[in-house]
Amino acid sequence: TKSKAPAALASSRQNPQSATPTAAPARRSPLDPRRPAMDRIHVTVRARPLPPEDAQSSPWRISGNAVALTAQPSIRFEFDRIFGEDCHTADVYGARTKHIVDSAVQGFNGTVFAYGQTNSGKTYTMRGSANEPGIIPLAVHDLFRTIQQHMDREFLVRMSYMEIYNEEINDLLVPEHRKLQIHENYERGIYVAGLSEEIVTCPEQVLKFVSFGESHRHIGETNMNVYSSRSHTIFRMVIESRDKADDSDTDSCDAVRVSVLNLVDLAGSERAAKTGAEGVRLKEGSHINKSLMTLGTVIKKLSEGIKGQG
Ligand SMILES: Nc1ncnc2c1ncn2[C@@H]1O[C@H](COP(=O)(O)OP(=O)(O)O)[C@@H](O)[C@H]1O
Ligand SMILES: [Mg+2]
Repeated sequence: TKSKAPAALASSRQNPQSATPTAAPARRSPLDPRRPAMDRIHVTVRARPLPPEDAQSSPWRISGNAVALTAQPSIRFEFDRIFGEDCHTADVYGARTKHIVDSAVQGFNGTVFAYGQTNSGKTYTMRGSANEPGIIPLAVHDLFRTIQQHMDREFLVRMSYMEIYNEEINDLLVPEHRKLQIHENYERGIYVAGLSEEIVTCPEQVLKFVSFGESHRHIGETNMNVYSSRSHTIFRMVIESRDKADDSDTDSCDAVRVSVLNLVDLAGSERAAKTGAEGVRLKEGSHINKSLMTLGTVIKKLSEGIKGQG
């Protein structure tokens, strides 16, 4: 539609995680966890190219890193970064996500979400197309390249790929694993029980698993974009590394690092009232709204810093 909001990429990094449940002391880095939380949450907007007739009638104008109503310029929203419609996914990747991938290799957790209405370009940005690779393939290639530069450490990389549809978690790598449950325990923290993790050693292998995962989602679905717009897709890489020089007798808590990189393509954020949804579509919509609202609350709490964390 004409007033379609552009897709947004929100990214955050969390504190480093120690492989052992005993907390590791915070390591100084550009991502120092002691810095205010807001610094670690960035929102980037990417405008999708519109057909000329829609572009003419769009009520929004981009100026710098703000989007404003043409008719009422005082109504404006500022973001950390805005990319115009002629940008490339590689530019969007370089702005923030590259840094998050580098940090993940160093042991810091990181998450990138694509948020926006259906058709605003979330999947195009995250997965990409035949002629323009998305954030996921760019991140995967970068991750393995970065790992090779860390000669002093030994890495083990695992991946999983899941979707959340109508509040049900399905494993996209093992299609018969459906309706998985979220569990929590001392050793692993919060995790999806039964979610498969594949050990991966090169980008091609990862991307093959991603295509495999995608191929199942077509079963019984005539309109792939409609279906994928109603589910959240979470691509996850667990990066574990060990100091090669470390013999296990020493007590260095930095010897083993485990971090998680999440790249998430969220379900469409459109309102049920606007889309005139009924029945199954309305039920899907209410699950999506509930989960996006909860995500919003979590991000808001994180951005409020230590004091506001609830
Ligand atoms: N930056 C872009 N450049 C060119 N085409 C795009 C761009 N973003 C989206 N598209 C196209 O617009 C359509 C909708 O994009 P899609 O990523 O599927 O939206 P969403 O996942 O947000 O529902 C697709 O056909 C896609 O190829
Ligand atoms: Mg999509």
